[in-house]
Amino acid sequence: MDFKKHIADNIQAGDLTPDEIYAMLALPPNTEMGDFALPCFRLAKTMRKPPVKIAEEICAAYPKDALVCEVTAVNGYVNFKIDRDFWAKETLGTILSAREKYGSSDEGQGKTVCIDYSSVNIAKPFHIGHLSTTVLGSALYKLHKFLGYRPVGINHLGDYGTQFGKLISAYKRWGKKEDIEKGGLRALNALYVRFHEEAEKDEALNDEARAFFKKIEDKDAESVALFEWFKELTLKDVGKIYDLLDVHFDSWAGESFYNDKMQPVIDELSEKGLLVESEGAKIVDLEAYGMPPCIILRSDGASLYATRDIAAAVYRKKTYDFYKCLYVVAYQQNLHFKQFFKVLELMGKEWAKDLVHVAYGMVSLEDGSMSTRKGKVVYLQDVIDKCVDKALGIITEKNPSLENKEEIAKTVGVGAVIFGALYNNKIKDITFSYDKVLNFEGETSCYVQYTCARANSVLAKGGRAQSFEAKNILPQEFELIKQLSDFPATLKDALDKYEPCFIARYAVDLAQKYNKFYFDCKILGAEEGEKNFRLALTEATLITLKNALSLLGIGVPEKM
Ligand code: ARG
Repeated sequence: MDFKKHIADNIQAGDLTPDEIYAMLALPPNTEMGDFALPCFRLAKTMRKPPVKIAEEICAAYPKDALVCEVTAVNGYVNFKIDRDFWAKETLGTILSAREKYGSSDEGQGKTVCIDYSSVNIAKPFHIGHLSTTVLGSALYKLHKFLGYRPVGINHLGDYGTQFGKLISAYKRWGKKEDIEKGGLRALNALYVRFHEEAEKDEALNDEARAFFKKIEDKDAESVALFEWFKELTLKDVGKIYDLLDVHFDSWAGESFYNDKMQPVIDELSEKGLLVESEGAKIVDLEAYGMPPCIILRSDGASLYATRDIAAAVYRKKTYDFYKCLYVVAYQQNLHFKQFFKVLELMGKEWAKDLVHVAYGMVSLEDGSMSTRKGKVVYLQDVIDKCVDKALGIITEKNPSLENKEEIAKTVGVGAVIFGALYNNKIKDITFSYDKVLNFEGETSCYVQYTCARANSVLAKGGRAQSFEAKNILPQEFELIKQLSDFPATLKDALDKYEPCFIARYAVDLAQKYNKFYFDCKILGAEEGEKNFRLALTEATLITLKNALSLLGIGVPEKM
């Protein structure tokens, strides 16, 4: 139950709507003052009264009930105190009956949200640079679904461009079928790297590559077959990682899918007088908006990345009639998105306002960055494998007799990679550290998972409380209850701001509060009534932690 909403609905403050009041209700720094506070300073102007007076009036008019046990007016604030026993009972009751649905809602009903994420490039390494888009996008996908939206996960494959000509040329010169079949993406990348090395010495190679690319475009059987084979190998390799990370897509329509969908867009641009010629190329002039021109067709008539994105947006609107279309792509592409969003707006697409670039920062390893061309690249698969390996080492050391160690290490290691990428505000650049993400006492998924194992063990010993009563709640219990009841609001906030990190931080906070409670309050040794309440609290915590982690794509082992 949303107490804030309950209070907002009952407050009478001039002609403010409950939604406006809801947004104004704050959390007082000190719970002794109250659980929610309404600052009245901003109301002074419209209500033409001093804030202190307004607060007193609102306080006097508020109808008290079982939920709100105390309302006071202090220095221009109205403070509301919620009956703690009531709060506890409501919260635990809600969680224990909703269980894996706790936190879900139907706010998104009837709304389709396209989410373009991961969007890997064919025959290019799936490296650590793709980690954020993949796990952020996937978390946003799950979160939208949980809140009642219909998400459409789109992997906008990078499957078009001259690099495929290079690859065919390299393969025909130096490639062996068996090696590629065995080596997958890494073998393809090795060919690509070799091409660049050799092309530096021999210019003619680039012409050959262009010719091969042209052959793909002209649907030459051999070239197309090779390209399709590269694509298949890539999807097989990245599919393994998607499985590990619990990532799914509804559409794999990549750049080449729009080959035949660009002409109508180009025609429309030209009809609307937006297309101008510049040095042989066709562009949309964006100078008035402080941006360089958006190039639509190169002087040789070839389309560009932006051309495909414009066609893709039009296609998505037509196909899915989206409420929002999100692009989870690194901030390096800020300009690209600003440009093509603007072009769509200039074309008169009123829905251009519903396109959102969900930009995120860079991930690097502690030992430096990477470059695809030079072959110095950190494969995501290697990072995951190393984390799982390290997790196995730690688990074996902590609990040598644990069964299913490998399975558990996988859940812990993979979780650490995901959580490591999601814990900070997405726009921040992060340095990935194995020791940090696998610190069992840190702000990590393994800390949260470990807390779940602790809760599981308490429940295994104490059993599930069949019924419970909430009486004379202790501060540690109340802090935990409050945090538990904040889960739905956290999810809503995470969705509104496209910040899965709110969920990750929430989980760590909740785990910390549970552990404080666990160490300060006897559970199994408490007298019957208290014991039942604390078992219920333990179970509600476990449910909520699991729900939070599962939205991020992270599992929870029973034991650790
Ligand atoms: N494949 C692109 C890259 O790796 C990302 C594509 C993002 N999606 C989009 N619609 N532009 O940079």
